[in-house]
Amino acid sequence: MSRLEGKRVLITGGAQGIGFEMAIKFADRGAQIVIADIDDERLGQAKAELAARGVVVSGFQVDVTNPASIASLRAQIAAEVGPIDVLVNNAGVVFGGPFTKVSLDDHFKTYEVNVLGLVAMTHAFLDDLVARPEAHLVHIASASGFIGLPYGSSYASSKWAVIGFGESIRAELNLEGHEHVHHTIVCPSYIGTGMFHGAEAPKATNILEPAELAEKVVHAVERNKIHVLEPFMVKLTPILRDLLPTALYDRMAHLFGADTSMAHWTGRGSEEQTDESQPATRDQSEAER
Ligand SMILES: NC(=O)c1ccc[n+]([C@@H]2O[C@H](COP(=O)([O-])OP(=O)(O)OC[C@H]3O[C@@H](n4cnc5c(N)ncnc54)[C@H](O)[C@@H]3O)[C@@H](O)[C@H]2O)c1
Repeated sequence: MSRLEGKRVLITGGAQGIGFEMAIKFADRGAQIVIADIDDERLGQAKAELAARGVVVSGFQVDVTNPASIASLRAQIAAEVGPIDVLVNNAGVVFGGPFTKVSLDDHFKTYEVNVLGLVAMTHAFLDDLVARPEAHLVHIASASGFIGLPYGSSYASSKWAVIGFGESIRAELNLEGHEHVHHTIVCPSYIGTGMFHGAEAPKATNILEPAELAEKVVHAVERNKIHVLEPFMVKLTPILRDLLPTALYDRMAHLFGADTSMAHWTGRGSEEQTDESQPATRDQSEAER
C-alpha cells in the first residue's frame, strides 16, 4: 500500500505500547486512525493524545476475545468511520513463569487474546478488506514465534499460531485472486513497552525502541513487505534453527541467553516498582547480580 494518506487504519490494542506508536506513524502519513482496546481509560487518554497532535482518530472499546464485542466494533466503525483499509492485529498479553506456576487460566487467556482474538478480528473484517480497492492485513507476532521460549511457553506457542495463521491467510487470498490485500507479519524480539518488564534481551540483540519498530512496521506496509524480523539477529534465528543440529542450536541459544531471557520476567504493572520501565539488557542484569 504505497499511499496511506486518507486510508482508515484499525489497530487493536492501540491504547498503549507498540499499537499506540504505530497509530502515530500511520497518522504521520495522513492516515485516519481507529484504535480499539479493552482498556477504556487508556483508550480515552490515547485518543486525546492523538487528537491533540492533530490526528483524525476514533477510539472504541473492544474485547477481541468476545465475538459479540467485535461485531459491535464493526457496526460502530461502519456507522461512524467508514470501511477500513488496514487492520493491524496487535492486541496481546503474556504471563511468564515456570509452566505449572502460571495458572491454567492465564495460559488459556494467552491463547484467547493472542490467537482466538486475532482469528476472530480477521474473520470479522477480512471481507471488508477484500472489498476495498487495496488493503493490508498486519499481524504482530513475535521472534518467539519460531523458537521455544522457556518461562513463556504459552506466549511463544500463541505466536507460532499467529505466524501459521498469517501465512495461511496470505496464501489463501493469493489463491483466490485477492492479491490487492497485502500482508505483513511482524516478529520482533523484546520491545521497551513494559509488557516484558524484567525479561533480559539475549546477547547480540538490543531492546527495540517502540517508536523505531513502529516506523519499520509502517514502512513495511508502504512497501508491501511480508515479513519484519527485528533486530538483525532475529533474521538469522530461523535459518540457524533449521540448519544446525538441534543440540548445537540449543547450546548456542543458551550461550546467547535466549533460553533464559524470560527467567526474571515480571511484566506490565511491575515497571512502576523499579527505576527502569524497559526490559533489562543482559549486561545490566549481570552487573546487578
Ligand atoms: N513488548 C514486547 O517486547 C513484544 C515483543 C514481541 C511482540 N510483541 C507483541 O506486540 C503486541 C503489542 O505489545 P505491547 O508491548 O505494545 O503490549 P502492551 O501491553 O503495551 O499493549 C497491548 C494492548 O493490548 C490491549 N489488550 C489486551 N487484551 C485485549 C483484549 N482482550 N481486547 C482488546 N485489547 C486488548 C491492552 O489493553 C494493551 O493496550 C502484542 O501482540 C505483543 O505480543 C511485544
